[in-house]
Amino acid sequence: MSSSKTGARQLLNLLDRILYKWLFRSLANQLLITYLLVITIALVAVSLWALVAIRKESLTDLQNTMEVVGFNLGLEIDNDLVIDSPLSRQRIQAAVDRRASRLGVSIVVVDKDGRLLADSQPITQKENLSNEQEINEALAGVVSKSTRSEPQNNLNMLYVACPVRSMGATTGVIRVGVQLTDIERRLQKDLIVFLEIIFGTGVITVFISLFLARRVNKPVQEMSALAKQISISGDFSAFLPVRRQDEIGELCLSFNQMIGRLREQERVRQEFISNASHELKTPTMAIGSVVEALQAGASEDPKLRFQFLQSLERLVERQTSLIQDLLDISKLDAGLDSNYQEEVDIVQLVNDSIEQLRPQADKKKISISTQVTLDSAGGSDLNVLGNGSQLQRAVINILQNAINYTPDGGSVSVSARPLSGERVELKFQDTGVGIDPADLPHIYDRFYRADKARTREKGGTGLGLAIVREIIARHHGAMDVDSQVGRGSTFTIQLPLRRSDGETG
Ligand SMILES: Nc1ncnc2c1ncn2[C@@H]1O[C@H](COP(=O)(O)OP(=O)(O)OP(=O)(O)O)[C@@H](O)[C@H]1O
Ligand SMILES: [Mg+2]
Repeated sequence: MSSSKTGARQLLNLLDRILYKWLFRSLANQLLITYLLVITIALVAVSLWALVAIRKESLTDLQNTMEVVGFNLGLEIDNDLVIDSPLSRQRIQAAVDRRASRLGVSIVVVDKDGRLLADSQPITQKENLSNEQEINEALAGVVSKSTRSEPQNNLNMLYVACPVRSMGATTGVIRVGVQLTDIERRLQKDLIVFLEIIFGTGVITVFISLFLARRVNKPVQEMSALAKQISISGDFSAFLPVRRQDEIGELCLSFNQMIGRLREQERVRQEFISNASHELKTPTMAIGSVVEALQAGASEDPKLRFQFLQSLERLVERQTSLIQDLLDISKLDAGLDSNYQEEVDIVQLVNDSIEQLRPQADKKKISISTQVTLDSAGGSDLNVLGNGSQLQRAVINILQNAINYTPDGGSVSVSARPLSGERVELKFQDTGVGIDPADLPHIYDRFYRADKARTREKGGTGLGLAIVREIIARHHGAMDVDSQVGRGSTFTIQLPLRRSDGETG
């Protein structure tokens, strides 16, 4: 007994799992079930409503007809009811039989006390019918109707009892009864038709919803397969076919755009890694050669040894600065330190940066001048809310370029001024070599150098301005460059000023 119970439970569990898997693992099946449920519920509701309405309408029709029968018979026998003699009873019975057989109904006539006077089916009836509800009500003077199942033949009957009145008093009751089999048969037929319609619509719904679900499901499945493939292989070369113009088509398009972007990002990343390794390799190899030369005997000669050690120092410095640049750029990419904010005095920051680079400028006899304009109200500081060390890094990179790419004896001028109290504008102007218009759009690209031979000899790796651009963007600023070959360049930076209420502009 208990083993059959566990067996049944296991079977139920299995069915449950299969159903769960079938339903919730497939979008198509969920759509199918939803359509089917909605259509079936709607059709069943409409059919029920229609069946009830048809039954009600048919019953009302039948009641009205029977009321007319009762009324007409009443007109025929009302005198005989008052007389109440054996002869009059015979006449009543004859009238009852005539109508009952003509119309296929059962008719009963009782006198004002409910005693049976005539019956179209004499064997079945009792002597006094005043206990029957509809007759009782009709004796009180109202037309009364009732439906019930007769115990002797198990048939559903509708009875309409009409009072017969003479000179203001009820003289008897005529009760007309009819079997409801016809109406029931008709309702059964209607029910079968409705069930057929529900079944037919269900089958059509299954086909339509399977078709629709496949249409929705196919691109989703393709998308899921492609996403899986990309996540496993990291290969961004494949695209989804876009066959439709609806929301699913739009989703496919966006998915393809996302793949395109990821592919581009991956290309930039690969390029960055290969450029970075290449840039790291060059000084490393040079360091190796210098060390080799020293080991091979160059260290014996004090003059040579000094020269080699000096170039080793330069190479290590370059390597260190390159590694610092790489670290900075990857930190910026990862968004580290981006939440850190402090109040930065821009004029102070520019002066500090100039002092840091002054020895290099002096070496090349380059003069550096500064000009600061304060706002019209006068006195208020040019303060920016941001990361001070990042902003200093940006200013130093630009100043470093101005010094690097300006021949000996040139000049660099830096100016700072507020723009309508909202932003601060920094201009870095040099009398250097300038930048070719063809190079201008690329100078912010990572590892881009306008004049490769010369910049390499100056130790540039082409990361300086890329770092500047990232830092300025992170501070919601803007930057611009204006340059003429042989005459010099002007780099302009704009940053939002910190407002007195503590908000940045
Ligand atoms: N003030 C300037 N005058 C002339 N050319 C400039 C100036 N600033 C930048 N450039 C050009 O733009 C290129 C990119 O500058 P960037 O600072 O990014 O790289 P870099 O100076 O070569 O190397 P580093 O990463 O060491 O700064 C430089 O190689 C140079 O050719
Ligand atoms: Mg530079």
